[in-house]
Amino acid sequence: MTTSTPVLRTRICELLGIEHPIVLAGMSPVSRAELTAAVSEAGGLGVLGAAAMGPDELRQQIRAVRERTSKPFGVDILLPNATASVEDLRQPATDGRPAGGLPEEYLAFQREAATTFGLPEAASPARPRGGGPGGETAKRQVEVILEERVPVFASVLGNPAPFVPALHAAGIMVMALVGNVKNARRVVEGGCDIVVAQGTEAGGHTGRVGTMALVPQVVDAVAPVPVVAAGGVADGRGLAAAIALGAEGVWCGTAFLATPEAALDDELKERVVAAGEEDTRITRLYSGKTMRNINNPLIDLWESSGLGALPMGAQGAIVEPIQRAAREAGRIDLIRNAGGQAAGMVTSRRSAAEVVRAMVDEASEALARLWDLTGEPVRP
Ligand SMILES: Cc1cc2nc3c(=O)[nH]c(=O)nc-3n(C[C@H](O)[C@H](O)[C@H](O)COP(=O)(O)O)c2cc1C
Repeated sequence: MTTSTPVLRTRICELLGIEHPIVLAGMSPVSRAELTAAVSEAGGLGVLGAAAMGPDELRQQIRAVRERTSKPFGVDILLPNATASVEDLRQPATDGRPAGGLPEEYLAFQREAATTFGLPEAASPARPRGGGPGGETAKRQVEVILEERVPVFASVLGNPAPFVPALHAAGIMVMALVGNVKNARRVVEGGCDIVVAQGTEAGGHTGRVGTMALVPQVVDAVAPVPVVAAGGVADGRGLAAAIALGAEGVWCGTAFLATPEAALDDELKERVVAAGEEDTRITRLYSGKTMRNINNPLIDLWESSGLGALPMGAQGAIVEPIQRAAREAGRIDLIRNAGGQAAGMVTSRRSAAEVVRAMVDEASEALARLWDLTGEPVRP
């Protein structure tokens, strides 16, 4: 930190041991060790997006963060909540459809995608998965987090309550991401230390309520537990606004997508930089749950098909073969590219440290402007 860096400290800086109230969203698979360490090293809190990591990879990634920085960081996982495996589809169908694998209408969608986009046969057999993230996976991930004494645990979808006593006993702070007031209350009752209130503008899995309306309602509902705002924040004006809404910091994903440290195809980073505020779309195509992505023709095809999504985990049986085929054919534009409405603010390829630094500078300018509006002659 240079002497000219403005100071903007909130309670979460004390709780998390960080200089700036800026948290890197635990984006799977984008927030790996390099990006996590870069944000922590810049004075924010880096969070590993570990949802899809098995225990060995998670341990390796935690250690890789520690090789790059001695500052605090977190690990984000997906907790069990309505996941299903492709094996569930093999149960005899109750609605008259044949049992044994994907129903015909989904196979037809795979064929249509192959024809429309000139992909190799997309309907290769889906790799059966044990229910995707969640369940036993989450338990094993938490064991690693405990063993490695990671400073901060973050979770999305489910409730971290069953893990909170062990995490607290190990001195680990618990953050949980929510999209409505009901879930904010639920995670706080479960012992969560910091609530991340994520508005629908956000990239990735997202809810229905906008950040501007959600944050103050969550702040009121869970006071005095600190709240961090997420969804649509990609510069210091957003950080200042979040603080004005009663939040104590921001959790940002899209802002870091085009950094060199992000684990994302270069072509997908370029798509983020090129995207405007209207270029994202919420779809269940990629995971079975509502996820905001930089839009692409495959999403349009799915949304116009009228097909309902399968439960999380099982939906992969539809989309993963198409994604593999798209990669084979070099159609990177059809690959999942989660990103939020703030993509319109990401207009250049800056390093993670530059993103953090600019956010702090802009936020203090924005807060100074607000102070000037009060007509007070001297700033405190
Ligand atoms: C590429 C991408 C992957 C994401 N993966 C996860 C994840 O694995 N776990 C999670 O808690 N949130 C995930 N999210 C959501 C973020 O945690 C965060 O809430 C969101 O990015 C904040 O909104 P913003 O994109 O407008 O900054 C992801 C978001 C993106 C853009």
